[in-house]
Amino acid sequence: MKSPALFILLLFFYHASADHGGSNAQTTIVFTTLGRSSYAFDIYTLPTSLPPSKAVELQLTDGESVNFNGYFPSSLPPSLVSRLPDPVLSINTSPFHLVYVTERNGSHHVFLDSVYYGGSGNGGKRKRSLLEEESRVSVVNRVQVPLVGVEQTGGRVSMKDKPTLVGESLIYVSTHEDPGVGRASWAAVYSTQLGSGLTRRLTPYSVADFSPAVSPSGVWTAVASYGETGWDGDVEELGTDIYVFLTRDGSNRVKVVEHGGWPAWGDDSTLYFHRRCHDGWWSVFMAVLRENGELGVESVSTQRVTPPGLHAFTPAANKRLLAVATRRPGSDYRHIELFDVDSGRFTELTKPVSPKTHHLNPFFSPDGSWVGYHKCRGTGNGKGNTLLLETVQHQAPEPEFSLFRFDGSFPSFSPDGSRIAYVDFPGVYVVNHDGSGLKKVSEETAFSTAWDPKRKGVVYTSVGPDFASETTAVDIVAINVDDESRSLKKLTVGGKNNAFPSPSPDGKWIVFRSGRSGHKNLYIMDALEGETGGLFRLTEGPWSDTMCNWSPDGEWIAFASDRESPGSGSFELFLIHPNGTGLRKLVQSGTGGRTNHPWFSPDGKHIVFTTDYGGVSAEPISNPHHYQPYGEIFIIRSDGSELQRLTHNSYEDGTPTWGPIYIQPKDIEWPDGGDACSFEDCHWLNISPTSKSSNASIAQCAHLPK
Ligand SMILES: *[C@@H]1O[C@H](CO)[C@@H](O)[C@H](O)[C@H]1NC(C)=O
Ligand SMILES: *[C@@H]1O[C@H](CO)[C@@H](O)[C@H](O)[C@H]1NC(C)=O
Ligand SMILES: *[C@@H]1O[C@H](CO)[C@@H](O)[C@H](O)[C@H]1NC(C)=O
Repeated sequence: MKSPALFILLLFFYHASADHGGSNAQTTIVFTTLGRSSYAFDIYTLPTSLPPSKAVELQLTDGESVNFNGYFPSSLPPSLVSRLPDPVLSINTSPFHLVYVTERNGSHHVFLDSVYYGGSGNGGKRKRSLLEEESRVSVVNRVQVPLVGVEQTGGRVSMKDKPTLVGESLIYVSTHEDPGVGRASWAAVYSTQLGSGLTRRLTPYSVADFSPAVSPSGVWTAVASYGETGWDGDVEELGTDIYVFLTRDGSNRVKVVEHGGWPAWGDDSTLYFHRRCHDGWWSVFMAVLRENGELGVESVSTQRVTPPGLHAFTPAANKRLLAVATRRPGSDYRHIELFDVDSGRFTELTKPVSPKTHHLNPFFSPDGSWVGYHKCRGTGNGKGNTLLLETVQHQAPEPEFSLFRFDGSFPSFSPDGSRIAYVDFPGVYVVNHDGSGLKKVSEETAFSTAWDPKRKGVVYTSVGPDFASETTAVDIVAINVDDESRSLKKLTVGGKNNAFPSPSPDGKWIVFRSGRSGHKNLYIMDALEGETGGLFRLTEGPWSDTMCNWSPDGEWIAFASDRESPGSGSFELFLIHPNGTGLRKLVQSGTGGRTNHPWFSPDGKHIVFTTDYGGVSAEPISNPHHYQPYGEIFIIRSDGSELQRLTHNSYEDGTPTWGPIYIQPKDIEWPDGGDACSFEDCHWLNISPTSKSSNASIAQCAHLPK
């Protein structure tokens, strides 16, 4: 029994702490990244002088996290050599030095690994060559030096990409500077002096640069860039041009090729790059920069070098030998091949080694004797399992929350925060946030999940295909996930695309979107009985209102809508009272941008959502498939102030949710190991462009205007 005095005291403390601006309001945001949980990328290498086989393929990175976009430096800067311990003397092979991007510890870092190999079972006996070993060579020592992390980018979390080590400088892409306008990409090229840590921006402000490549002499850097025009919503080929500038300070910047991406230097006056041709094929082109005279588009001659009939892209070059990724008709896999510019001959590199694996973004050793690339390490030789919850670093100072990538779509937390419901396609699942207790609660294809705040174990979802028209059969159901019969209670009738259920905090009502009028608008129905127990129309108009979420205090419903430009694909976030008053716009991404999937924080003061506000951060073709590679997770205060970016990557981040408890920021593995390597290559590379002549003149494509 509580005495009244104690009760008042408790009440006082409750209010005092509640007013304290959230110091005890620790919460968790989880979101989905398409495919990323199963990447398990490591960097591998094959020699160019021997027939490719498993016996001569070396795994260079250590099987931790996701490692990609490698670079073999020609030498190590003195400041680094002093940081490396003495080489292991019993090993007579020289080490591989590898610079690469790694996503370990929840953010992007650039690492340098020096990897020493030895033969297995040789007792330290000297062999003339590493490759004369009969059994597979193994790593006998690895020295790992983080080169660039959060410290070098002003303490700001960012995506880091495509590193090159030239002298004392690391050249790389980072997304730590906010251009301050919606739908502008944050990707820019930076140079960090490894000795001093001094970092300078090489990309002009108001411009985004992707895919930097440094010339063999180190003097020039080439990038793919939109120039001043900016990202225009492309998700397949970016409409970039190639620019070059002085690596030293970014000066003498000049456009050398219109329409092209992923530059690679053959020598200091020859650039290779990729471009999607008018005949539909991605091909590699050569651009010769004149030694003398003005540099510019007019003085540069370009020529297609890989033929139509296959996709060849993301070139690396060693003089006139190219390493390219290819997609050939009839093959579902992305492979690395060598291409001799003079003879026009391709040589397979990775297909004989792992025919049913995607290989990405090749790079040469300085003498051309090795080609590196990344691929999924599979389940066999990696450390650890696929992650159910992967901790992601973020810097929002307030409110206090942990951030996780979740390996499932449309996650939502149970009211006590202990369980997460989510969908896979097909099926609805529930799992404890520590990875235990996984169960499938429905076989149906469903999307969006939300827990009833009052009735234990009740989860609402919408059953039917997602991204469908107004008349598609989708209905809202309630599932009691603790009931072994797993019966679904259908709450809407008629199947006119009824989706995105979100219950009111008292559990009495559900807001949802429906296409029943011929347009997707918002409705409110009785939570127990469904629409037959009571149905009210909340919004009305010839546009789409969707992805609604009810605030914890019951006063507001957040939703996404294209009402300002119906059918354009542009969505903004709005707020409305449940009685239909108070409509206001919360956030818009640039002009024609997308903001979707709003979800209130447990205290109602913030909203998390996904948006293209940060543009794209890398050429989509350098990654596996992402429908919306621009998707990043942001938060904003419910009054529309303090927009903050949480995620930085080149993947599709979406369907965020905000849970009521704080989960310690540490990775949680799937108890059963998970599903590594189950991602797909870019869908838009699948179709062989047979419709148009695949016989088109090579020169014609070379001069195709944008
Ligand atoms: C990663 O986290 C571990 C453990 O917290 C820490 O020891 C290590 O220094 C971190 N590495 C980087 C590159 O931040
Ligand atoms: C609608 O709801 C809001 C928020 O609860 C309230 O402030 C307002 O007075 C209501 N308006 C009407 C017309 O009921
Ligand atoms: C391709 O071009 C060659 C030479 O012009 C011609 O003989 C051949 O018929 C063409 N093939 C197709 C499929 O158009």
